[in-house]
Amino acid sequence: MSDFDTIIYEKLDGVGYVTLNRPHALNAYNLKMRDELYQVLGAIRDDPEVKVAIFRGAGERAFCAGADLTEFLAAPSPIIARQVRWERDVWGLFLSITKPLIAALHGYVLGSGIEIALCCDIRLASEDVQFGLPEPGLGIIPAAGGSQTLPRVIGGSKALEILLSGRWIRADEAHRLKLVNRVVPRKELLPQAERLARKIAGFDPVAVSYVKQAIVRGLDLSLKQGLELEARLAHSITSLK
Ligand code: COA
Repeated sequence: MSDFDTIIYEKLDGVGYVTLNRPHALNAYNLKMRDELYQVLGAIRDDPEVKVAIFRGAGERAFCAGADLTEFLAAPSPIIARQVRWERDVWGLFLSITKPLIAALHGYVLGSGIEIALCCDIRLASEDVQFGLPEPGLGIIPAAGGSQTLPRVIGGSKALEILLSGRWIRADEAHRLKLVNRVVPRKELLPQAERLARKIAGFDPVAVSYVKQAIVRGLDLSLKQGLELEARLAHSITSLK
């Protein structure tokens, strides 16, 4: 159990649990959460006891309703306020973690909320989930990786359409778009995420990390380079045995 204000971080049986914990503000991502998330991500990356992590939101209504509008879009200017977000490379750290990350999504998953989910490898959602990217309507663009991670998951044309129309996506469509791996009843969300996490935690952590690296890094490579990466990782793992 951790001492953070905006995040609850727990560890159990090889699984790290990260709960965004500002339910009174629908778990909106504020500066404090940025700093605490940065610390938690470092702990997940460096702690050998953590083999896999689950991200979820506290309360009944939201995983995360995006950036805290009272902080990030307030005076002195949206531009300066946004620079504040870039003081820590939370998103670079997120995407550099080679352990599997599972997002358990319910309720509102907006703006930075979607972007956190997209930094995870496997997304489970409950039937009440609603995704949205309100940024263009606020005169800004996604800046937590979303403009790059979303099209890699659902394709460029769909990502553009969703961003430019400002429309929200519900569970069925999110599943059809492959934005989420699975839609489950609300009460099944955490149990299913946990079952998956425990299964992963039981596997050899090096093999798990290499599988993630082969797939995630491979997606940014040509097939030829990807096959070379796979060969290097396969050779490296057999030489460890
Ligand atoms: N930043 C700060 N506070 C937020 C927030 C955000 N992104 N999203 C919700 N909240 C707060 C509300 O201000 C409200 O606080 P209050 O009870 O002290 O008044 C509380 O969370 C509940 O939200 P509320 O708006 O009353 O709930 P609702 O059911 O009427 O609407 C939403 C839910 C998600 C549609 C609405 O809160 C919303 O549009 N939020 C902003 C989403 C957004 O634009 N995010 C930024 C993306 S870049």
